[in-house]
Amino acid sequence: MITTHVVPDARTAGSLVAERIARLVRAVPAAVIGVATGSSPLPVYRALADLVDGGLDLSRVTWFALDEYVGLPPEHPESYRSVLDRELVAPLGLDRLRVHVPEPGSDPYAAAAAYEADIVRAGGIDLQLLGIGGNGHLGFNEPGTPFGIPTHVAELTHATRRDNARFFPSLLEVPTLCVTQGLGTIGRARAHALIATGEAKAAAVAAALTGPVGPECPGSLLQRCPDVFVALDDAAAGGVEPTGQEIDAVR
Ligand code: GLP
Repeated sequence: MITTHVVPDARTAGSLVAERIARLVRAVPAAVIGVATGSSPLPVYRALADLVDGGLDLSRVTWFALDEYVGLPPEHPESYRSVLDRELVAPLGLDRLRVHVPEPGSDPYAAAAAYEADIVRAGGIDLQLLGIGGNGHLGFNEPGTPFGIPTHVAELTHATRRDNARFFPSLLEVPTLCVTQGLGTIGRARAHALIATGEAKAAAVAAALTGPVGPECPGSLLQRCPDVFVALDDAAAGGVEPTGQEIDAVR
């Protein structure tokens, strides 16, 4: 079931998702949480940092990133390892060793299999935080990716490389391959929280939440998932109707 909350701005959307995460951790202190990169989740991490300042204890949580570029060393400032160190580990005061990120190294195929096994060994993901690509991608699962696929090596589409070029000196430096949790991996998470903000996401959000379910829109996988919390700002919501309760009621 999908519960959609529409709020005026990204900051409020981030607070709502942070509250959803906090609700899980208060109930299950050793929860396994999937985390995303990109700009969408940043307000979530900021709001979580405030909750940690207010006493939320994340010390027993295990974290799994969605994906990582192939060909960037972990210490490259735009590797997702570095991005998560900067945006999640440091501000929340987490133990870096509890935040898992695929390590493609010289054998990305082996790294993908090892990562999938690590998630299984951790007991699976309790709550997967997601952004969505402008073309509906989840992680780096581009349109056309089969729903059942596990963590794998994938090629980035030109559109996604262009979108992500803003983080690199030029398009040429954006990697072409990545290791990403597959739609099978993402779909097996016991709950999901999607945050999308800005007009550029409106079409992808509408397709994911209300369009036909199938690989043409990876985000439409969420319509098959049992517990999906969606936080949108007005611009990303477009015509999508809210089904969520008022902010206080979700706390
Ligand atoms: C990237 C990431 C996705 C993310 C998406 C949207 O390619 N691999 O996990 O959801 O792009 O990014 P943003 O939130 O910056 O729009």
